[in-house]
Amino acid sequence: MTMRIADAVNIDDLRRLARRRLPRVVFDFIEGGVEDEHGLEVNESSFARRRLVPRYMVDISRRDQSAALFGHTYASPFGIAPTGLAALFRADADLILARAAAAANIPFIMSGASTASIEEAAQAAPAHAWYQLYAARDKKISEDMIRRARDAGLDTLVLTVDVPVSSKRERNVRNGFELPLKLRWSKSLEALMHPLWIADYLRHGMPRFHNWAPYAEPGASAKAIAAFVARQIPCSVTWRDLENFRRLWPRHLVVKGILHPDDAVRAAQAGVDGIMVSNHGGRQLDQAPAPLDMLPAICAAVGDKITVMLDSGVRRGADVLTALCLGARFVFVGRATLYGAAAGGFGGAQKAIEILRKEIDLVMGQIGCPRLDGLGPGFLLQPDAPQVRTEVHADSDGAPGLEERRLAEKAARR
Ligand SMILES: Cc1cc2nc3c(=O)[nH]c(=O)nc-3n(C[C@H](O)[C@H](O)[C@H](O)COP(=O)(O)O)c2cc1C
Repeated sequence: MTMRIADAVNIDDLRRLARRRLPRVVFDFIEGGVEDEHGLEVNESSFARRRLVPRYMVDISRRDQSAALFGHTYASPFGIAPTGLAALFRADADLILARAAAAANIPFIMSGASTASIEEAAQAAPAHAWYQLYAARDKKISEDMIRRARDAGLDTLVLTVDVPVSSKRERNVRNGFELPLKLRWSKSLEALMHPLWIADYLRHGMPRFHNWAPYAEPGASAKAIAAFVARQIPCSVTWRDLENFRRLWPRHLVVKGILHPDDAVRAAQAGVDGIMVSNHGGRQLDQAPAPLDMLPAICAAVGDKITVMLDSGVRRGADVLTALCLGARFVFVGRATLYGAAAGGFGGAQKAIEILRKEIDLVMGQIGCPRLDGLGPGFLLQPDAPQVRTEVHADSDGAPGLEERRLAEKAARR
């Protein structure tokens, strides 16, 4: 019997549904990493090897996973990371994701390589859309995009810094992935096995980079705009550029793609509000460490000067909670919601969010932590973090992490 979106019980089920709907050349673009794809493995295993140590006899009858971030209270501690070219997976996927995020009260980051525009994202999710900037070689373009994001009323700008050069995505090379999408004869046969995707693609045509269209030749075709974008990005971003963007952008500014504690400190000194510890979902440097493994050192280096967030490899609610235990304030998912949107449009994206949300709720109950501010390293058993502490007893109605923190603060005041 074939599985439907409603039957999906986890993110991997949505992944299988997406793989079934998409031709290989497209699915591999979502799924792939770089070179030997060690990065993908390292990201997922960084979560899989952590153990959460439950605390029992805590009142968990009411669990609250709402999370405050940049003056907004979101319904869950995770949001949707920026993913470029989403319309290739399903027409209007950027806006589908934006609307699903708004409906679920979580943030959505519109990609700098999106096919919809900043203004459309702001319209689809006025209080939930952020914009991710890929700095362009022509500085005036970046400055204009910042102006547009500001005029559209967006609250948070995310500058991605981990694409100084293109990466070697071997699946794309082998599949002949290029824009506009040209299906080679052998690939065309494979694509014919995915009629729903073909029909969608033929109906809507090659996705255009709407955000970039105003800067290309007037009347440029989708292909010409794609060629223009390829001449503008990737572009190396320097600390001086960041300082300039900080001057131009008056609201919350986040740098995405930080992996070194010294870079985190430098970003804080440049006046950013937050950083996203990320290795781009294993899509840039195959030898890069898993963000989760760098998180404790980064949190220790910046303290509470800036908001530390994380993405890369999150597939389960427990992964979100693990990252929060290690110091992240918020977590983002890239592929998880993309699988949902690719497989089932708005309903599929909603399903991915719902799966993660339910898993978070269940694990909060399982570990005896009814509120997110109770999470901390005390819930983790792992070699490179403090071991489970045994000297503190939790209140039966409180989160042990919180209580531990209160006692520690009291001791420090004495
Ligand atoms: C298909 C795809 C496209 C992406 N495009 C962008 C992008 O345009 N800008 C960006 O900053 N990151 C991009 N990323 C990286 C994501 O924002 C995020 O860092 C990554 O997906 C997180 O890892 P995960 O997929 O394991 O959750 C992309 C990722 C994927 C899978």
